[in-house]
Amino acid sequence: MFKPTAYKKIGLFFVSLLFFTACKTTTNEKFSNRKVSFNEDWSFHLNDSIIDKDTIGTSTKWRTLNVPHDWSIERNFDEKSPAGYGGGALNGGLGWYKKTFKVAAADSTKITSITFDGVYKDSEVWVNGHYLGKRPNGYIGFQYEISKYLNYGEKNNEIIVKVDNSKQPNSRWYSGSGIFRNVWIETTDKLHVAQWGTYVTTPKVTADTASVNIETTIQNQYPTSKKATLTTTIFYGIGNDLRRIKSTSQNITIGANANQKSKQKIQVPNPVLWSVEKPELYTAFTEISLDDKIIDQYKTNFGIRDFKFDLNKGFILNGKQVKIKGVCLHHDLGPLGSAINTRAIERQLEIMKEMGVNGIRTSHNPPAPELLDLCDKMGFIVMDEAFDMWKQTKTKYDYGNDWDKWHKKDLVDQLLRDRNHPSIFVWSIGNEIPEQWNEKGVEIAKELAAITRQYDKTRPLTAAMNPPVNMNIDAVTLQFEKKDVSINPLAGSGVLDLIGYNYAHQTYEHHLKNFPNTPFIATETTSGLQTRGYYDAFSDTIKKWPVRWDLKFTEGNPGNTVSAYDQVQTPWGSTHEATWKVIKKHDFLSGMYIWTGFDYIGEPTPYEWPSISSYFGIVDLAGFPKDVYYMYQSEWTDKTVLHIFPHWNWKAGQTVDVWAYYNKADEVELFVNGKSVGKRSKKGDDLHVMWRIPFEAGTLKAVSRKDGKGVLEKEIKTAGNPSQLKLTADRSTIKADKNDLSFITVDILDDKGTLAPNANKEINFSLKGNGKIVGVCSGDPVSHEPYKGNKHTALAGKCLVIVQSGDKSGRLELTAKANGLKQATIVITAE
Ligand code: GAL
Repeated sequence: MFKPTAYKKIGLFFVSLLFFTACKTTTNEKFSNRKVSFNEDWSFHLNDSIIDKDTIGTSTKWRTLNVPHDWSIERNFDEKSPAGYGGGALNGGLGWYKKTFKVAAADSTKITSITFDGVYKDSEVWVNGHYLGKRPNGYIGFQYEISKYLNYGEKNNEIIVKVDNSKQPNSRWYSGSGIFRNVWIETTDKLHVAQWGTYVTTPKVTADTASVNIETTIQNQYPTSKKATLTTTIFYGIGNDLRRIKSTSQNITIGANANQKSKQKIQVPNPVLWSVEKPELYTAFTEISLDDKIIDQYKTNFGIRDFKFDLNKGFILNGKQVKIKGVCLHHDLGPLGSAINTRAIERQLEIMKEMGVNGIRTSHNPPAPELLDLCDKMGFIVMDEAFDMWKQTKTKYDYGNDWDKWHKKDLVDQLLRDRNHPSIFVWSIGNEIPEQWNEKGVEIAKELAAITRQYDKTRPLTAAMNPPVNMNIDAVTLQFEKKDVSINPLAGSGVLDLIGYNYAHQTYEHHLKNFPNTPFIATETTSGLQTRGYYDAFSDTIKKWPVRWDLKFTEGNPGNTVSAYDQVQTPWGSTHEATWKVIKKHDFLSGMYIWTGFDYIGEPTPYEWPSISSYFGIVDLAGFPKDVYYMYQSEWTDKTVLHIFPHWNWKAGQTVDVWAYYNKADEVELFVNGKSVGKRSKKGDDLHVMWRIPFEAGTLKAVSRKDGKGVLEKEIKTAGNPSQLKLTADRSTIKADKNDLSFITVDILDDKGTLAPNANKEINFSLKGNGKIVGVCSGDPVSHEPYKGNKHTALAGKCLVIVQSGDKSGRLELTAKANGLKQATIVITAE
């Protein structure tokens, strides 16, 4: 068994050091990659009327593009969109993709497959006129073998993909439409590791050694049986920076046209463990040799870690208690829509890491594989979720309609695809599934649990249920697991390894009474509502605001903005502070996944035009943090934090509530134009302090102190008239690979360089050089300006423009202009 205390021993450090010194040589081994990108040079045609593959060829409206591609993000917001506001008021439709390609004559003896990581939705594929199949689920990857339909050598091949997202609504949030994830061509020998054909587990982990079990599924597509050698080598590291650890080989015989599983074991001495702080990774490298020749190579990244969910102590990782400080994320990337881009996902995760987030819930579907790779590398505790509905639909045309035929295959494929990722710690079989309330749901849950456990027993299973206890009932006396299963049969069924439910933070403290045998996870929490940079500065007026989610904006604020003070919430949710206070207090509460880390397109709450994107994010759609981001940062990170808000541009004499989030200090003193307006200290479980003061133009300054000594100072000045633009890039050097992105923030400043917090001017962009502007966004949930374009109106003095490199290195020069403001230019280098 794993011995937690052993890790504390200093000896381990020296042992590890010696071990690595001994194996320091970085390998030069060249691994052939069986997968190559198939993203470029597709032709695309969007037309609801052509529904027939045989007539689509006659269309002259083809346009060339690269995938991943989301056509809905290119459309205009439409109040009458059948997708509804839930779908972001962006239309779906029927799209066709085609591509012409050649395959080398030498590949005619091999197996060629095409893999789609995700096509939304109802895709159908033909190669050279042969129908390959249909896949309704837009979020799961799928592969077709195409060898026997191909022309080899000089003759062209044609692939046609029909994508049908015309039946609306089919989603509660913005889905995007099209081939929105990567496409790959895979070429292998007829004897090869099957798709998702490895399963690496680490059943025993101690400080001295980890046992690594590798199960490999090998597929023989030769018409004769084959004798081959299977070799697995474990390397420390991933990518090209690898140190060889150990190898094992075995002879195998596989019958003609058969699949076979082989099991191997390797002991890794002094394992370097995967953790949130140091997400150390290993590679299992599989080789198949036939007649002493290597004919197939396959790489699997994995991590070595030991964990459990403990009823009393919560989540234990490598012997240490770790509170899960997670967020839920939908898959869209704001202005880029749902077309995945690895850098855009990485930026989202970086922004979350800076806030102190250590967990991601892939709500409510399998994510792009790149998100999981990044979570492996960056150290996030992932809850990988399969479904938002089972058989009972939530919107008219959603996946519930495909449930009977597809759920088993979709779940199995998700498990096979994802189970080697060390970042995944929990499987979720569904979110707020209506059937949880009846016995039929328990039956379905049993089936899904059996499937999940058949493919992976190393992680606990949960479902993001609705609160299993009626909130009007005294939760303490329920003893839910023992007595009363009539309210939520799924919670009481014993099917789940973790009791996971959404919201109802008032019940969390009673968990051990309600569920004396099953550990807890808050699968979804909070649902606070905020617009970045908007404040109701006088708290008495807040009562007139949509503090209650169901008040119409027009009865509160006609601009459809929601105050960014952490005071507005859905009735089923809480303020950010309220839920975190409970989770923080008790060890048995293993953690939480907040709804949501980022705003997403669709599901505005209140559900009301002109709002088209959500208000739930701690960070807005453009990637700019709202104020509550700093509450979490002060609680969840080691950074020294002092954040004060709101801005300092109000009417003379107006009463303003000034809030401060801070840590590592015992008091904060606030000054207006040099005059102290009082010291404040957090009492009890407070997470912020506040001053209610009359506005006076000038400088608001906060000083945090510990034992009388200054820790941090923050100043906000009253801005004068907007006068200039400022551009700041997250990265000023990017790769010239046609994919990389620079995210450039535009600030509207006064003549002294202070952010003009009410400046909502339209900004025009132009770009010189080999690259393009791929997205513009201000984070405004009410804006109907397209995200694809060269102009956008700022929100609260800020806007974002995203520049993508081309394939040539050189300078990319972005200029921003706005009426009456001094323009700004920034240079990005692509290399
Ligand atoms: C939850 C649901 C989420 C989202 C959220 C908004 O009930 O699981 O998908 O709709 O509410 O508060």
